[in-house]
Amino acid sequence: MASKSSLQLIIFLLSLSSFTLKSSPLNLDRETDFDKWISWNVRDHQKKALLQAESAGQVPGAGGRVLDEKLWKAEMNKVRISVCQNGTGDFKTITEALNSIPPYNSRRVILEIKPGVYREKISIPRTLPFITFLGKFSDPPTLTGNDTASVTGADGKPLKTFQSATAAVDANYFVAINIKFENTAPHEIGSVGGQAVALRISGTKAAFYNCSFYGAQDTLYDHKGLHYFNNCFIQGSVDFIFGYGRSLYENCYLNSVAKKKASLTAQKRSNPSQESGFSFKNSVVTGSGLVYLGRAWGDYSRVVFSFTFMDKIVLPQGWSDWGDQKRDTRVFYGEYKCTGPGANLTGRVPWARILTDEEAKPFIGTYYIDGDTWLISP
Ligand SMILES: *[C@@H]1O[C@H](CO)[C@@H](O)[C@H](O)[C@H]1NC(C)=O
Ligand SMILES: *[C@@H]1O[C@H](CO)[C@@H](O)[C@H](O)[C@H]1NC(C)=O
Ligand SMILES: *[C@@H]1O[C@H](CO)[C@@H](O)[C@H](O)[C@H]1NC(C)=O
Ligand SMILES: *[C@@H]1O[C@H](CO)[C@@H](O)[C@H](O)[C@H]1NC(C)=O
Repeated sequence: MASKSSLQLIIFLLSLSSFTLKSSPLNLDRETDFDKWISWNVRDHQKKALLQAESAGQVPGAGGRVLDEKLWKAEMNKVRISVCQNGTGDFKTITEALNSIPPYNSRRVILEIKPGVYREKISIPRTLPFITFLGKFSDPPTLTGNDTASVTGADGKPLKTFQSATAAVDANYFVAINIKFENTAPHEIGSVGGQAVALRISGTKAAFYNCSFYGAQDTLYDHKGLHYFNNCFIQGSVDFIFGYGRSLYENCYLNSVAKKKASLTAQKRSNPSQESGFSFKNSVVTGSGLVYLGRAWGDYSRVVFSFTFMDKIVLPQGWSDWGDQKRDTRVFYGEYKCTGPGANLTGRVPWARILTDEEAKPFIGTYYIDGDTWLISP
């Protein structure tokens, strides 16, 4: 497709240049303008071809993909601002940087966040799409907090799980690269209201590369939308990845610090027509506390693990219906080509599914999250 359009462009340019050759003696100024116009077109085309090639490289086999138009425009007009606590950047805090962005912005805004510990409660409203948090690979900035569900909010009421998040993203097209999200509230077994979210992602088409998420109960609230996690580290104790997002986790390291039997995921698909579910691919499940791979928060909870190494901390049963047997016939809990002591299928609940190639296929590529239209290189 790309080569055909470049051929068309060349033919088009050739026809135009033969026209100028004839007309050039008449008006030199116009010729300069024309040259500018030509080189602009060439550059523009090169830029597009490059972006297309990059995207195609990232999604093997995705020929002829069409990038979401809004995202395309945002990407073409991106801007960078920096956040540095020592005053050498554009802003000292992430919050100030976010407040400087006009609502309903249509450009991609890259916040280059310099190393440091940022104790800020971050909220990105729906009106601020296309925000990217970019940290330094060798020294990622830490976004930290310690709110829990039971902490009293400004209105005098408990925050609840939803508002306990250190960073909450309601906007679409959010990207984070090399960022550490943290909630340091200690987890006490049996305590009510101990949920302490590090990141809540509620916007759609969000991607996280090389990020880490530290918490205990309810670390990562994968609330709703299409999400992609690549090369991320996620640590927690109870239900530490939860929500009803439709998400692909690739090359991720899931670390359980549960002090008694707990569950790694609590996926909340609550009716069979809901397009939600977590898919973990090429990942590692390890840590120190015993876990189920998932427990059914919603009746139709859906979780798939493929090509994943499972350490001995995975309970032989593998999955939990959270004490509600009607869910046994409704949930979709699949495993495909996993390895390690925790992947031993002897002892699995009878309603766990060992997926065939055909059944696994829909879950094991970025197409699972419609990545073709919105995943761009970090
Ligand atoms: C401020 O922080 C930046 C980024 O971490 C660093 O490169 C720079 O040397 C620091 N400047 C001063 C004056 O401390
Ligand atoms: C992410 O981490 C990998 C190493 O694990 C590194 O090669 C890559 O450059 C990192 N990506 C970015 C965008 O920093
Ligand atoms: C949360 O952190 C703040 C600031 O470090 C501290 O003052 C507060 O005691 C902490 N709250 C809890 C419940 O640990
Ligand atoms: C799986 O577990 C059973 C029961 O503990 C054990 O007998 C069997 O050898 C294990 N299989 C593998 C491949 O480790």
